[in-house]
Amino acid sequence: MARSLGDRQATVTIHYAQTLDGRIAARDGSSRWISCDESLRFAHELRAQHDAVMVGVGTVIADDPRLTVRLVTGPSPTRVVVDSALRLPLSATVVSDRAARTMLAMTARGDPAKAAALMERGVEILRLDADPDGHVDLVALLRELPRRGIGSVLIEGGHGLITSALRHRLVDRLIVCVAPKILGTGVDAVGDIGAAGLGDALAFSSVETWQCGADLIVDGTLERVAARV
Ligand SMILES: NC(=O)c1ccc[n+]([C@@H]2O[C@H](COP(=O)([O-])OP(=O)(O)OC[C@H]3O[C@@H](n4cnc5c(N)ncnc54)[C@H](OP(=O)(O)O)[C@@H]3O)[C@@H](O)[C@H]2O)c1
Repeated sequence: MARSLGDRQATVTIHYAQTLDGRIAARDGSSRWISCDESLRFAHELRAQHDAVMVGVGTVIADDPRLTVRLVTGPSPTRVVVDSALRLPLSATVVSDRAARTMLAMTARGDPAKAAALMERGVEILRLDADPDGHVDLVALLRELPRRGIGSVLIEGGHGLITSALRHRLVDRLIVCVAPKILGTGVDAVGDIGAAGLGDALAFSSVETWQCGADLIVDGTLERVAARV
């Protein structure tokens, strides 16, 4: 699935688990676990198939994930945390466990002393321009990653990063694990992607669905269209 590393932008797969009513976390921020055991194993298979797994700093703060491959046999991908202002705690597991190569993408808003402390702990720091919202410029990040040996990226969340990647039309493949649960109010999987009407909805060129334990997996290739925003 990965393009050659000579290409200018890493390919992007988004994968997350949601309830039937589209929530990736409860109102209190908890998301472990929305999906069933079989789907969790599938999630680890996906990690092993990608060069990098990427999350926003909000997910690290909420869940303190390891982001490694443990439930299947396979290599752990490079971990990439997108963190414009260096909110990542030095105590985060991705910093302290040294279980896989770890990168942090930041902007000039981040404290240089904290960046140095992260580098001392083995974290690779990528200093990038900010987008108009003041966040890490995802296009610049996806262009930088192939220069560092990363041709394919699996975005695992959360709401903010999923929404940005979709809004900027950076996503090649979207895999949603739909669990037969209803949460009502909670954290939406996807926010404003600039779609005012149904004609603006992102469309898929192909979609497969299959049952994974109690969950339904929807795995689609997105049509490539220019970003509206
Ligand atoms: N069910 C699932 O599969 C699943 C998976 C993952 C997470 N979650 C849940 O999602 C929730 C966290 O959602 P979240 O929105 O707070 O987390 P997030 O998307 O992981 O992180 C969002 C943060 O990333 C930073 N960021 C930097 N550059 C960005 C960019 N270009 N676009 C977007 N964000 C950028 C921003 O903070 P700065 O401006 O400070 O950089 C932003 O606030 C938690 O409740 C977690 O449990 C669920």
